[in-house]
This record gives sequence, C-alpha cells and structure tokens, in this order.
Amino acid sequence: MGKLKVAVGKLNFEFPGIVASGIMDETGDSMVRMFKSGAGAVVTKSIGSKPRPGHSNPTFTEVECGYVNAMGLPNPGIDMFEKEIKTASSEGPVIGSIFGGDEKEFAYLASRMEEFGAVAVELNLSCPHAAGYGAEIGSDPEMIVSVVSEVKSSVDIPVWAKLTPNTSSIQALGRAAEKGGADAVVAINTLKAMVICPELRKPVLSNKFGGLSGPGIKPVGVRAVYDLYSSLNIPVIGVGGITCWRDAAEYIMAGASAYQMGSAIGITGPEVFNEINEGLVSFMKEHGYETVKEMVGVAHE
Ligand code: FUM
Repeated sequence: MGKLKVAVGKLNFEFPGIVASGIMDETGDSMVRMFKSGAGAVVTKSIGSKPRPGHSNPTFTEVECGYVNAMGLPNPGIDMFEKEIKTASSEGPVIGSIFGGDEKEFAYLASRMEEFGAVAVELNLSCPHAAGYGAEIGSDPEMIVSVVSEVKSSVDIPVWAKLTPNTSSIQALGRAAEKGGADAVVAINTLKAMVICPELRKPVLSNKFGGLSGPGIKPVGVRAVYDLYSSLNIPVIGVGGITCWRDAAEYIMAGASAYQMGSAIGITGPEVFNEINEGLVSFMKEHGYETVKEMVGVAHE
C-alpha cells in the first residue's frame, strides 16, 4: 500500500482517498472510523461561526444517479467543534471545512481550525443551497480572491478552495483562487438540482432545490479537474461521483493529486476506501506505475 502515498502541496497522505465534506465527518468518532477504513484524510462537515439548524426536512432524497440534498449547512458552530477535531486528529490528518458570509468570518474560522489542529482548511465557496454563503460568494472571482487572500494572511496551514460547477467557467474560479494564494483547489461541489413529486405536485425538498451528488455527476467532475489541471499551477483535488477504483483512476489521470468521496460512503459504506485502495494497487502493478504521482494528469499527454 506504500505505492498509494500522495502529496498535496506540502501535505502528505498515506492514501489518495479523502472523505468529502458532509458525510461521516460530524463527530470525531465517525472521522476515526473513516481513517480505519482506508481514508488518507478527512474533511469535516462545513462549520460556521454559530450553531445553525439548516433547512427543515425533507433535506435529502435519492434519485436514480445519486442523491439530491439541501441540508442548509447545519452545524454545531466552531466553538463546539474543537473536541471533534482533536479526537479525529489522533488518528489521521483532518482538514477543516468552513463557510462564512465574508472574508473576516472565513479568516476567523480558519484561525480557529488551525488552533484546533486541522492540517489545512477547505473554504466552502460552493454550497448551492444556503443564502448568503457558499456559491453565492464563490461564483464571483473577485470575492474568491478576496476571501482566499484574507484567509491566507490569517493562517499558516494550507488553504484549499472548493469550487462550484454551477458556473460558465470553473477555470476562472480556479484562477481566482490561485491568485488569492490558495494552496489547492477542490472540484467539484454538487450540481444545482430539483426533484418534484408528481402526486404532491411540488418539489420534494423543503428548500425546493438542492445539490446533486453521486455517480451521475462524475463526468462533470472529471471535465472540471481536466480543465483546472491544464490552467493552474497548484494541485487539484477531484471529487464527484467516485464509487470504484476506475473512477478514482479517471480523476487522477485528468489531473487530480488526490480525490474525495462522499456519496460512495452512503452507497457502499466506509469500506469503499479500502476497496478502491486495493483496486488502484492492482491496476498500478499491471500497468507499471510505481506511484500515484506518475499517473497524475497522464490523460493530457
Ligand atoms: O448543507 C451542507 O452542509 C452542504 C454543503 C455543501 O453542499 O457544500
């Protein structure tokens, strides 16, 4: 399994698969479970300054190609999250996902995450269903530059920017993150989506629309990673619809230095990390790759 060690900038991970923000990452114990299942790192649930209940139910529904959710960024608030990070960090590297309404709030949350022991922060600039947060900030390249640069000047740990695919140019958003000093970009968050119940004649989710994740969005994510890899000089982390080792290989070959998984944990269970690790090792042996790094971006050659 030594073949699977990866680096994202100055951070080193034992395995290339990382738990995506939003699933099995609300408590220290659930994050520890993910490390024991072969995750190389865990990104926490997105955390804000104050406790937030999120949208009312229904907030989540299954569709034929994945899930549509509009959780609305529910979280216990940064003060309550210290012990969860400390518990999880005893087992492996934890990346603190944060959301804020402006540069100062992001910077404050990032410095708290650093104080708690997070090895990096992931800026949620892409949640598609929370007014005043996420994609409402992260769709504007100038805001991205401003938020990222403010966070960079407030912490010493690496800063990752998670980008929205709900845009005409994810490359422009990636370039803005790089200009602000981001150490890596993460692509993609969910695609804005809606499900309507014909019998009830109304949208299923209380928020009406939400974000689509799961296998249906994988080709969109692979394309985004491919485009970002060719236009940026910072690492790209791929996420969106990975459920098996072939999907992971696609993202890596498109240019991802590491990949994240969320929906696959719901579909297969935490063991999906170990299953993909084993599949990648077999593929690498068969095709003569000594390291994951040798595979990064080969689809561009
Ligand atoms: O509500 C949520 O926690 C979702 C966040 C996201 O889609 O980024």
